[in-house]
Amino acid sequence: MVLGGAVSLVLIFFLSFLVFLSAWGSIKKWGKMPPGPTPLPFIGNILQLRPNDVLNSFRKLHNKYGSVYLVYFGTQPVVVLNGYDAVKEALIDNADVFGERAMVSGFRKFFSEYGIIPSNGERWKQLRRFALMTMRNFGMGKRSIEERIQEEAHFLMKEFRKTKCLPFDPTFYFSRSVSNIICSIVFGNRFDYEDEAFLKLLNLQSQTSKLADSPLAQLFINFPHIMQYIPGPHLRLIENIKHLKEFVKERMKIHQESLDPNCPRDFIDCFLIKMEKEKQNMASEFNDDNLVMSSLNLFIAGTETTSSTLRYAFLILQKYPEIAEKVMEEIDHVIGQDRVPAVEDRSKMPYTDAVIHEIQRFADIVPLNVPHAVSQDTEFRGYIIPKGTMVFPLLTTVLKDPLQFKNPYSFDPGHFLDELGAFKKNDAFMPFSAGKRICLGEGLARMELFLFFTFILQNFTLGTTKDPKDIDLSSALHSGNRPRPYQLCVHPRR
Ligand code: HEM
Repeated sequence: MVLGGAVSLVLIFFLSFLVFLSAWGSIKKWGKMPPGPTPLPFIGNILQLRPNDVLNSFRKLHNKYGSVYLVYFGTQPVVVLNGYDAVKEALIDNADVFGERAMVSGFRKFFSEYGIIPSNGERWKQLRRFALMTMRNFGMGKRSIEERIQEEAHFLMKEFRKTKCLPFDPTFYFSRSVSNIICSIVFGNRFDYEDEAFLKLLNLQSQTSKLADSPLAQLFINFPHIMQYIPGPHLRLIENIKHLKEFVKERMKIHQESLDPNCPRDFIDCFLIKMEKEKQNMASEFNDDNLVMSSLNLFIAGTETTSSTLRYAFLILQKYPEIAEKVMEEIDHVIGQDRVPAVEDRSKMPYTDAVIHEIQRFADIVPLNVPHAVSQDTEFRGYIIPKGTMVFPLLTTVLKDPLQFKNPYSFDPGHFLDELGAFKKNDAFMPFSAGKRICLGEGLARMELFLFFTFILQNFTLGTTKDPKDIDLSSALHSGNRPRPYQLCVHPRR
């Protein structure tokens, strides 16, 4: 038995070595490769890309190798792009070539090939176009998305009032409100904040994000074939995704039973109607698998990102109360206290707009971006990148590019204001990425951030729970950026 195990291990190692040599060889034969640390067989550059310090590892490699470098995730070569110029040149100037999606092997295990996020080609085109159009139509329908957010903000204000000026952890307050917006678009209804199924769903999701950040999960994402046999909390990731899929499948069934084709209620209804229309079309991508995974994509991509940004926002405001004061002054001046904030107010509120942009830049919620790939052999900045090579256009290096922002590591709304106090655009503001794959929910997220942010500061002042100088704005994660846990305290303004 022991001997058998040892022989299998040697065999696996040998085979991996061959795969590594072929990957290395296939890149090398093309000519000039980007520079990068020498990989080891099988484990690639794991010594340089430490799973417990991913962001810092990338930062060090950027300092050493410059704006384009090559690393190996196991046997998988990855071209890493750094800084506004390189990322823009790839994602915007060469959008078609750099617009393919790649998936780190462990993620494929969770998300399969279905849905908007992992797909490419005809499938991606059909699903993305459909999702954008459906979300737009719901924006123009009986009740606009803006109205849905305003209604949800009222519920959030009610919850905030219940805290009676006592400190509380805002995490679930923000995630329930933000999640309800995407639930109402995808599933057709918002949930009561105490609804058990809803709380279970949110718990599952936040647990999944935390698990995905653990060093073992980082290893699992890169080496799923081995890590799936090693016990540990990372295995719960698969279980969690299974539960999330089951939740969506259940909703799909309920929708099928109550569907009125003349009166679609939400994204799932629209998808079911499209499935029926295209059932004779063999090339149609409108099927059960794509429905479940696209709905799940919208739900996962649309909840954690926006609610974490809001959570970061109010920690930042606690550290800089003078900035919160100035935003409140602008709210009082433009909106007042007699009506609710609306999206069209944003253009008249340059300071608030600049603060929200700066929050997104500073919070840098998706620092590594989602992996891309090149759709054809391509020459980029003097290097050859073969078709299919994975590419990481690192958003953190754009949002913190010292050539684009005066104080990249400080919180400074001045990054988005001119000398006269008018809003100043900056093309390096790319928290939603850029090009063909730019975040599909950008419009929705920006609307949510503006409305929730202004609703809260129109209705409450922020109490102090800690001396501002002791508030730590650094990230609580290894592989992403999330605020450290904190307590919020709000006092009604009227
Ligand atoms: C502050 C909030 C958000 C941030 C910072 C954010 C950021 C991102 C980023 C960086 C990407 C990867 C783009 C790329 O591959 O180049 C992405 C993709 C995506 N996002 Fe968002 N996002 C946010 C909110 C949302 C919301 C509310 C939705 C839901 C409607 C959403 C749905 C998606 C989808 C479906 C994709 C995949 C697009 C594709 O592959 O074509 N996101 N997002």
